[in-house]
Amino acid sequence: MQPARAHAPGKLILFGEHAVVHHRPAIAVPLPAVQARAEAIPAEFGAGLTVHIPDANRTLRVTGELDREDPLYNALIYPLELALDALNEAIPDLEITIRSNIPVASGLGSGAALATALIRALALALGHPLSNDALNTLVYKVEKRHHGNPSGIDNTVIVYERPVYFVRGSPPAPFTLGAPLTLVVGDTGVNSPTHLAVADVARLYEREPDRIASIFDRIGEIACQARAAIEGGNIAALGPLMDENHALLRDLTVSSPELDALCAAARAAGASGAKLSGGGRGGNMIALVAPEAAPAVAEALRAAGATASFATTIG
Ligand code: MEV
Repeated sequence: MQPARAHAPGKLILFGEHAVVHHRPAIAVPLPAVQARAEAIPAEFGAGLTVHIPDANRTLRVTGELDREDPLYNALIYPLELALDALNEAIPDLEITIRSNIPVASGLGSGAALATALIRALALALGHPLSNDALNTLVYKVEKRHHGNPSGIDNTVIVYERPVYFVRGSPPAPFTLGAPLTLVVGDTGVNSPTHLAVADVARLYEREPDRIASIFDRIGEIACQARAAIEGGNIAALGPLMDENHALLRDLTVSSPELDALCAAARAAGASGAKLSGGGRGGNMIALVAPEAAPAVAEALRAAGATASFATTIG
């Protein structure tokens, strides 16, 4: 039997993170430059299901008895248990190896990508390939376990692997880019679990409903304006929208000194706009650049403290 192989990309939120949890629109794109990859091979009769994680030098068995406080259980075993249940299958005799170069807790969708690749590989190996809709439902359940109140944007963009204009509770609207976008991604190197930032924003909203609702509203308008600009190929309009979106995220308390410093460094090096991307408080930021400015902006980000930076073209 051939190995069953599956992969899933990372993701970038271009506009609208956090406000999207509260039903305002947001825009996200897949980031194939980073990937999670899973490979399932048959194991001996009675061996059960094991997951090898070479990067962590660990092997886990799916027995239903793992420590549920273990982050690796939540990230890797829970998705498989959920999928077996949905497929109405007993624990199979398989060995799955999972590898990922998506940094964890840094806004690039690592959790959703791991779950997507694992469930796809498992379903393929069992001879029940899943539709994207069915897979998306499962990965959303995994996201709920990871961070309590996810909007669903991460699993959607990662499972469908298409740019998406997303409003929580509505069917995702794929859209096409009128012109390619060149972005430089910079990593603060600070891990920041999304659920903590999402919970803090919810508390802020409870304390100051009017002020925070108007910030969410403006972020939603920015996402709408950005969608029109992206579809129309009006890239010049996007930089100022990114800067404004970043300032509003700072008002929501989800930026950090490191993110602010990297955004400022990118602008000073010629980016036309920059913002944090994802949950914030750390993780990654993105800068919009002309293709020829990308190397200088990537270098400026590293000089300003980014632990990694790379350019990517979307569309
Ligand atoms: C995380 O990638 C994006 C957030 O808006 C959370 C969510 O939408 O679930 C911060």
